[in-house]
Amino acid sequence: MKMLVVLLSLLALTNAIQLYGEESDGQCNYVKLTLEPRPHSVSILEFGAVGDGKTLNTLAFQNAIFYLKSFADKGGAQLYVPPGRWLTGSFNLTSHLTLFLEKGAIILGSQDPSQWEVVDPLPSYGRGLDLPGKRYRSLINGYQLQDVVITGDNGTIDGQGSVWWDWFSSHSLNYSRPHLVEIVESELVVVSNLTLLNAPAYSIHPVYCSDVLVQNISVSNPPGSPHTVGVVPDSSNDVCIEDCIISTGYDAIALKSGWDEYGIDYGRPTKNVHIRRVHLWSSSRSCLAFGSEMSGGISNVVVEHVRLYNSYSGIEFRTTKGRGGYIKHVNISDVVMQNVYMAFSACGQCGVHPDDKFDPTALPVLEQITLQDVTGTNISVAGNFMGIEESPFTLICLSNITLSINSGSLASWVCSNVSGSSQSVFPEPCPDLENPYSNSSSACFSSTSNGKSATL
Ligand SMILES: *[C@@H]1O[C@H](CO)[C@@H](O)[C@H](O)[C@H]1NC(C)=O
Ligand SMILES: *[C@@H]1O[C@H](CO)[C@@H](O)[C@H](O)[C@H]1NC(C)=O
Ligand SMILES: *[C@@H]1O[C@H](CO)[C@@H](O)[C@H](O)[C@H]1NC(C)=O
Ligand SMILES: *[C@@H]1O[C@H](CO)[C@@H](O)[C@H](O)[C@H]1NC(C)=O
Ligand SMILES: *[C@@H]1O[C@H](CO)[C@@H](O)[C@H](O)[C@H]1NC(C)=O
Ligand SMILES: *[C@@H]1O[C@H](CO)[C@@H](O)[C@H](O)[C@H]1NC(C)=O
Ligand SMILES: *[C@@H]1O[C@H](CO)[C@@H](O)[C@H](O)[C@H]1NC(C)=O
Ligand SMILES: *[C@@H]1O[C@H](CO)[C@@H](O)[C@H](O)[C@H]1NC(C)=O
Ligand SMILES: *[C@@H]1O[C@H](CO)[C@@H](O)[C@H](O)[C@H]1NC(C)=O
Ligand SMILES: *[C@@H]1O[C@H](CO)[C@@H](O)[C@H](O)[C@H]1NC(C)=O
Repeated sequence: MKMLVVLLSLLALTNAIQLYGEESDGQCNYVKLTLEPRPHSVSILEFGAVGDGKTLNTLAFQNAIFYLKSFADKGGAQLYVPPGRWLTGSFNLTSHLTLFLEKGAIILGSQDPSQWEVVDPLPSYGRGLDLPGKRYRSLINGYQLQDVVITGDNGTIDGQGSVWWDWFSSHSLNYSRPHLVEIVESELVVVSNLTLLNAPAYSIHPVYCSDVLVQNISVSNPPGSPHTVGVVPDSSNDVCIEDCIISTGYDAIALKSGWDEYGIDYGRPTKNVHIRRVHLWSSSRSCLAFGSEMSGGISNVVVEHVRLYNSYSGIEFRTTKGRGGYIKHVNISDVVMQNVYMAFSACGQCGVHPDDKFDPTALPVLEQITLQDVTGTNISVAGNFMGIEESPFTLICLSNITLSINSGSLASWVCSNVSGSSQSVFPEPCPDLENPYSNSSSACFSSTSNGKSATL
């Protein structure tokens, strides 16, 4: 199935992105592509843009992209943004387009809400995230696109989000906040070699997408920026996030798939995600989060070589009754944490509901989560695993974990309604997670067929 998609894409597009079907160690597990120069390029200057940080360039971006649509069947085209400060409201991308930000090029999001179109909520959420009802369209948008690349020589996209954070905090928003980059229902999406600053809400939000590569980017949303999240793969499959540095107010990377009854109805999971070589900071929440919106399901996630610093929590799985969905088949390894209050958390009572129409009997499933080869220094709580009584978290496999707990800590591990196995874990986990691996580490997985690997 995957191969078919890959071959079709290759035939259908004579464009910048080529996909490889074969495995290769240097490449991401799920996205294998290489970038080639577009045959055509125009500069935003040709559309009357002025890079003085004051002139509004929304029309220049919209007109440039409208013009570049005509190159879609000619190998696509590049929109070149030279050094300068390019103030703009929100604009749409088009297929077979590369948006290239030169070194010193800064796209600045307008702080005037009238420059941001108001649009319907996403169907898998049923409402805006901050408020019921509609939401602002993101600064840079894609809808039903193929082969779109946002890249540069470390150019910057700065959402100037402080006004949005203030409106959020003072409850004066009229609609839910916009994101910096949101790509919807698209295939072959690359965001690379850029710096993204001050997102109003999320920095990069691929939703209902496949074949997404986020590579070599730096994301920064300052501490205290409310609910700002770095990269959010949402109901998307075949996603790779690598070589990134992300620091945010809330979660640095969050995998999601829709909210309660809306997410269950939409039914599109996030799956086949590979995250590696990332450095993450989160001032108020989690470096790496699963959920809490996960009603379409999240599975087949590999995370390796991650460094997590100065954060409230390192890795969190969040869900609640009424979500439905699942989080399963997640392998996380080679993790170093420093100055993290809570290293791991799995929470069955985390997350609010979009409205009162959710089905409280829609129980989420959390199973087959492996955490291995982890070291941590200056940790307060090693793990807090609080499952759901009617749907306990199972097959939590911990291996080769050494956390140095700071002296102020009350309890290293807290567990309930959870089962799993562990080997070589220090400090020693709670009995619920202490069932020794019966043999090799695969026992933790193969035990599904034998019933349970541990007792509740
Ligand atoms: C942007 O795309 C949306 C579809 O996602 C469309 O409704 C809207 O009119 C487009 N805006 C512009 C300025 O092209
Ligand atoms: C990462 O991006 C920077 C510019 O932002 C570039 O100089 C560097 O070569 C890139 N590294 C890789 C591995 O692509
Ligand atoms: C990229 O630009 C940001 C500021 O815009 C700077 O802090 C960072 O060091 C640059 N990174 C590289 C690799 O040049
Ligand atoms: C919200 O709407 C009111 C009334 O139209 C307006 O005065 C206010 O400026 C708007 N707030 C924002 C943040 O857009
Ligand atoms: C990032 O930039 C480096 C250095 O210019 C280039 O080699 C690489 O292909 C770029 N990567 C992507 C994914 O754009
Ligand atoms: C996780 O690791 C186990 C054991 O090595 C393996 O069987 C499974 O396929 C891995 N899952 C993913 C999503 O890579
Ligand atoms: C330990 O981590 C906490 C955050 O959990 C931080 O506030 C504190 O400064 C760190 N201590 C040291 C010695 O780095
Ligand atoms: C345990 O994890 C450390 C990294 O935290 C790694 O260097 C070591 O090889 C692992 N040990 C085993 C037996 O896999
Ligand atoms: C499961 O969680 C409930 C609260 O949600 C708690 O009352 C109950 O004791 C827990 N069961 C076990 C076996 O820990
Ligand atoms: C344990 O592992 C060893 C080597 O991997 C294998 O030969 C043996 O059959 C396993 N025993 C059980 C009970 O699975």
